[in-house]
Amino acid sequence: MAVSLFKGKQVLVTGASSGIGYETALAFARRGANLILVDINAVALDTAAQTVREQGVQCLTWTADVSDAQAMSGLADAVHDAVGALDVLVNNAGIAFLGSFLETPPETWRRILDVNVMGVVHGNNVFLPHMLKAGGPRHVVNVASAAGLAPMCQMSAYVASKHAVVGLSETLEMELSGSEVGVSVICPGIINTPIARPNAANVGRSITQSQIERLAQFYRTKGAHPSLVGESIVDAVQSGKGVVLVGPAARLIYNLRRMSRSLLMKALIAESKKIWA
Ligand SMILES: NC(=O)c1ccc[n+]([C@@H]2O[C@H](COP(=O)([O-])OP(=O)(O)OC[C@H]3O[C@@H](n4cnc5c(N)ncnc54)[C@H](O)[C@@H]3O)[C@@H](O)[C@H]2O)c1
Repeated sequence: MAVSLFKGKQVLVTGASSGIGYETALAFARRGANLILVDINAVALDTAAQTVREQGVQCLTWTADVSDAQAMSGLADAVHDAVGALDVLVNNAGIAFLGSFLETPPETWRRILDVNVMGVVHGNNVFLPHMLKAGGPRHVVNVASAAGLAPMCQMSAYVASKHAVVGLSETLEMELSGSEVGVSVICPGIINTPIARPNAANVGRSITQSQIERLAQFYRTKGAHPSLVGESIVDAVQSGKGVVLVGPAARLIYNLRRMSRSLLMKALIAESKKIWA
């Protein structure tokens, strides 16, 4: 079910202090929605909240790690006490790791899956029952990636996590099709945010500084501004669209995969050599 007017609605965004989450919060705030911003980074969260409040709306903040089931349950209790059932839930928080499959340690796999997949699972687990019970048009948005639709070199754990988010979101959309709660999964292409500027802890041991710089340069020159995704998320909630392709390369990757998998693989390998060779 689509939500069309946002004035006074309660919108919660995870990973809201940077990049796509921050721009999504601002896009809803500009339309008069009240925001609940959630992030692991308390300092950046306060700065983001100030800008959101400058739009003349109410804004609450919670520092929480989306991968922590208990913390998310505590967050939901506090949010429901403060504002009641959410109108819009945006599960956006996510992290990446750059490195070949053989250089991605098991503990890195676990962390990526805990944040990118279980973070979405927890968000839906703790907020969805109240949204369904409250009735009326409401909407869940899960942020996946174009990497949820196709492989990407040096990102096996991230790709696996985003495929999982696409799969769980489309299943949820089917399961909720008879209800008033809609579900959208967002698949952004190349978006210029801090996620494309990893520190040493988020890269494999043979990734060089010049490769990291090439990647950052690629995102700077080819990447779209995260506000493009924020606006697409607002559109998705208004239109009730299920799968949303947004930003450079997302639609191309999606269509190429449908036409010819081998062509897509060749194109992605050639593209990745420009950064990783
Ligand atoms: N930038 C892109 O090109 C791109 C493309 C497709 C999908 N995405 C997805 O968009 C989402 C937002 O990414 P972004 O590009 O804005 O990156 P970003 O690094 O700018 O923002 C991510 C935010 O999530 C927060 N966060 C990280 N781990 C968290 C946790 N465990 N609990 C709570 N908050 C946490 C960070 O503090 C940060 O504020 C992610 O899910 C990412 O995978 C990004």
